[in-house]
Amino acid sequence: MKPRQIVSEMDSYVPGRSQDEIAEEFGLNKEDIIKLGSNENPWGPSPKALAAIREEVNINRYPESDLRELIHEYALYSGVRDDQVIVGGDGADEIIDVLAKTFIEPGDEFIVPLPSYMYYEYLLLQYGAVPVYARWDLEENKLDVDSIIDSITEKTKMIFLCTPNNPTGTLISQKDISRIAEINEDILIVVDEAYFEYAEVTNKDLIDKYPNIFIIRTMSKVMGLAGMRVGFGLSSPEIIEYIFRIKPVFSLTRLSYIAALTTLRDKDYIERSIHDGIESREYLYRELDKMDKLKVFPSKSNFILFNVEDTGMTATELSRKLMAEGIIVRDCTSFKGIDDYWIRISICTQEENEKFIEIMKKVIE
Ligand SMILES: Cc1ncc(COP(=O)(O)O)c(C=O)c1O
Repeated sequence: MKPRQIVSEMDSYVPGRSQDEIAEEFGLNKEDIIKLGSNENPWGPSPKALAAIREEVNINRYPESDLRELIHEYALYSGVRDDQVIVGGDGADEIIDVLAKTFIEPGDEFIVPLPSYMYYEYLLLQYGAVPVYARWDLEENKLDVDSIIDSITEKTKMIFLCTPNNPTGTLISQKDISRIAEINEDILIVVDEAYFEYAEVTNKDLIDKYPNIFIIRTMSKVMGLAGMRVGFGLSSPEIIEYIFRIKPVFSLTRLSYIAALTTLRDKDYIERSIHDGIESREYLYRELDKMDKLKVFPSKSNFILFNVEDTGMTATELSRKLMAEGIIVRDCTSFKGIDDYWIRISICTQEENEKFIEIMKKVIE
C-alpha cells in the first residue's frame, strides 16, 4: 500500500535525543545523564500543578471541550482578550499544524529564515506547501529582513518569524516584524514566542494593530510542562474563530488542562522559573565565552548556540564525546542553513551547569 507522495518523499523529524537512548548507546546510568538537548525546564513543574494532577481522578471522562476557563487564564497572563486566544493539546506544534490546516492550499509558499525551528517545514510540507528560504545573518546574528521581503511572491501565504529564534537565541525587532506585516495583509505573519519569557519581550500588542499577525506560545519552557503538551495562539478573533472550527476537539487531556490552569495561577513558580532560567543562561554564557576555541552567541532564550570549528572537531564528533561523558547536547547538523560546526545547549541547574562546564573543558582540550 502506497502512502501519499509527500509522505514517501519526506524524512522524519529529528528531535533532541533522550536519556534512555543515550544510556543504552553508551552504557551509562540514566539518572547520571544531564540533558541539555531539548530546551526544557530543568527545575521540574510547579508543585501545585503536580498536586492538582494527582487529584484529577475523572480520567474515565472525556476532557473539557469548553476550554473557556483556561483560555481566560491565559488571556489574563498575556494581557489580551479571551477571543484572541486559542489553546492546543500537542503543544505549540499542534497550533502550527492547525494553522497549516486552516490556511494552506497545495502550492502555497511559506517563508522561513534559516536557521530556524525545523518543525514549521516538517508540518507545512505535509499540506503541500512549498518552503522558500530567507536568511538569518550568522555573522551579525540577526534576521536579514531584506531577504524575507525579497522572497515574497504572489504565492506567499505564511512567514515564520521565531523570536527569540531557535537555535540562534536572538530577538527579531518589533520594527522589523511590523515592516513585514504591513507588506500584504493576506500573508499570515507567524511570530513564534515559545521562549519570550526569557527575553522579557513580547509582540502581543501587534495583534490589535495587524489582523494578519499570529503569535505562538507554549507551556513547555518557562511553565515546565513539556510533557503535558499545551500550546497557545494569540491573534485576531476572526483567525481564532476559523481555527476553532477545525482544531482537534479533545487533544488537550484532562491532566494537561488541570496542570496548565494551576501553573498559570502559580505566579511564584512562573517568576522563579524566569529568574532562574535567565541566571543559568548568563552563567553558561560567561563560562563558555571564556573558552577560546568556542564562538558563543549571547542569548535571550533558555539555550545557547556556539560554534566549535576551532576545536578541530565537527559538532557531531564533539557531541558524541560529550554524550559518552553523560551530557546530551543538540548537534545542530539537522538544522538547515547552518554548517557542521554548531552545538546548542539548554539551561540547567547550577550543579549540572558546573559539571557540564568541567566536562566541556576536558573534552575540547
Ligand atoms: C521555536 C519553537 N516553537 C515551538 C516549539 C514547540 O513547542 P511545544 O513543546 O509546545 O510543541 C518549540 C519546541 O522546542 C520551539 O523551539
